[in-house]
Amino acid sequence: MNKARMLLTLPCLALLAACNMGGGGNASSGDSVQGELVGARIGAPFTLTDQDGKPARWEDYKGQYRLVYFGYTYCPDVCPVDLQRIMQAFAQFEKAAPERAAQVQPILISVDPQRDTPAVLKTYVAAFHPRLVGLTGTPEQIAKVAKDFVVIYNKEGEPGMSDYLVGHSRTPYLFDPDGKPMALVPVDDPSTPKVDEGAPDTVLAFLEKWIK
Ligand code: NI
Repeated sequence: MNKARMLLTLPCLALLAACNMGGGGNASSGDSVQGELVGARIGAPFTLTDQDGKPARWEDYKGQYRLVYFGYTYCPDVCPVDLQRIMQAFAQFEKAAPERAAQVQPILISVDPQRDTPAVLKTYVAAFHPRLVGLTGTPEQIAKVAKDFVVIYNKEGEPGMSDYLVGHSRTPYLFDPDGKPMALVPVDDPSTPKVDEGAPDTVLAFLEKWIK
């Protein structure tokens, strides 16, 4: 994680915490437990373009849980690691509970619409999981969606350079079947054992907990 990305991450998380302040939803035990994002104003209707070049609307996923990750295919470090982590856990969840997993739509939304064309996204998402959808749009569409989903991003580098980085907040969201925010996927839990170390994965446990 580079410095600029760190800086971008922190205010966003602070913002999320602030969003949730009046939510009143953090019960601590039993079935009444709610995610930390319940009541937060994250998400809004959109129309973007999917990896096949077809229109994709937020409403198209109505009735499905949505795992939403904002990132970009040229991201050198955090995005691929997070996506790998989430989609690996999702694949395990699919094996263990195929009917529940079928109710989940994993989505990557690009914060680099200039380079992330549908064709570029198509190759990228397919490398993680066949069910992962990649969405892009015009710079204006992406700017609006990012704002509506409380995601900050910022191109880094000299103007006009084709080789640049995009600093962005790290916000892997889980939305409920009504499109309301539920919880943050615990991808950055430093104590998390990795799947390949043979220990139960925190992200898998998260899916088991929230996807009914
Ligand atoms: Ni990234």
